[in-house]
Amino acid sequence: MVQKRFKRETCSLFHVKQTACDFFNVSRETKENTMIYFDNAATTYPKPEVVYRAMDKCMREYCANPGRSGHKLSVEAGRIVLETRELMAQLFNARKPDNIIFSLNATDALNTAIKGMINKGDHVITTSMEHNSVLRPLKQLESLGIETTIVQCSETGELDTTKLEKAVKSNTKLIVTTHASNVTGTIMPIKEIGELARQYNLRYVIDTAQTAGTYKIDVSELNVDVLTFTGHKGLMGPQGVGGFYIKDGVALRQMREGGTGSMSESLLQPELLPDKYESGTPNTPGIAGLAAGLGFIKEVGIENIKKHEEEITGYFLEKLAEIEDIIIYGPCKLENHAPVVSFNIINKTSSEVSFLLDNNFDIATRPGLHCAPLAHKTIGTIEQGAVRFSFGYYNTKDEIDVAVKALKSIVKEECC
Ligand code: ALA
Repeated sequence: MVQKRFKRETCSLFHVKQTACDFFNVSRETKENTMIYFDNAATTYPKPEVVYRAMDKCMREYCANPGRSGHKLSVEAGRIVLETRELMAQLFNARKPDNIIFSLNATDALNTAIKGMINKGDHVITTSMEHNSVLRPLKQLESLGIETTIVQCSETGELDTTKLEKAVKSNTKLIVTTHASNVTGTIMPIKEIGELARQYNLRYVIDTAQTAGTYKIDVSELNVDVLTFTGHKGLMGPQGVGGFYIKDGVALRQMREGGTGSMSESLLQPELLPDKYESGTPNTPGIAGLAAGLGFIKEVGIENIKKHEEEITGYFLEKLAEIEDIIIYGPCKLENHAPVVSFNIINKTSSEVSFLLDNNFDIATRPGLHCAPLAHKTIGTIEQGAVRFSFGYYNTKDEIDVAVKALKSIVKEECC
């Protein structure tokens, strides 16, 4: 009753229609949304129902400050953070949950991983398929006396590891690569790169923003020092939570100091994990949502999620290839392809196509440069950008059929 009155008052206050008031009812909104959503590389949507419920429960029932006070609610909040750490450790097969650190998102984690590891005079190797979350921290470090080499990938975004090996110098300290390009979906050979890093005694940082939750990633089988992740893509959690796994013994400076709820008598930042990197109150509701997302992945099975998304990607690529005047970018082999497909329609800008898909057909995609300008230079689309379709667990072949029909009518200019 109280809630209803609040809704009505809010509506009259802002002079919005009654339907907009229903925005407060998250689950109804989710069911009624008929948009076809192909922008899962930006963030997955919708989330499993359990994620909405877990966040709501956390906010309403126990959202005290975790690991700070000793009362029941604080302990309960601490418990969900610990459980999520354990689930993340299981997902990556990390032996100790304390080696999983929570942060805001993958960008935040990559900033710590890169800037916390590098010193003046060091050399870093990366690839031309990286996101700005890797390239911009490196550019910033260049102004402080750090050298970088960006290894050029092929037109399909594939990395030749011999080129990477040739880039190693006496002052090389770190290799940083994505696991899969957010533009072409190209999978990087992370096992081989890890082996090279081991051979030359270099550190290796992997960005799994586009793969965690869809691909099996086992840190015990990879030579990886830091593996960054985001919670709101394949892990099915909400925005505002991400993090990294750090191997034991890796020297990495923290990016911020502050309260950790531990060793409060000391004015120095604690060295123990995960507290060293987790100053300040965490995003407990976000972490609770992430736990539910991880639970969902466990229940469905990561192999089944990958199989489904691979099938959808293959089906889309097949149908897309049948349309005239379309150029598809990225790897030829499906096994080297994360569920991200970029293409263009000849003589149309990517923004125009994405706009028409949204406006005329209720299909959500992402055009432009996807915060990865060098990847677009690599595939030859720096001017035009590309239309990106990225798939998630909830996409279906029927949705692909609708999209392909829409693309055909855009090509024929029937719709616009
Ligand atoms: N990095 C995200 C994307 O590729 C936001 O869209």
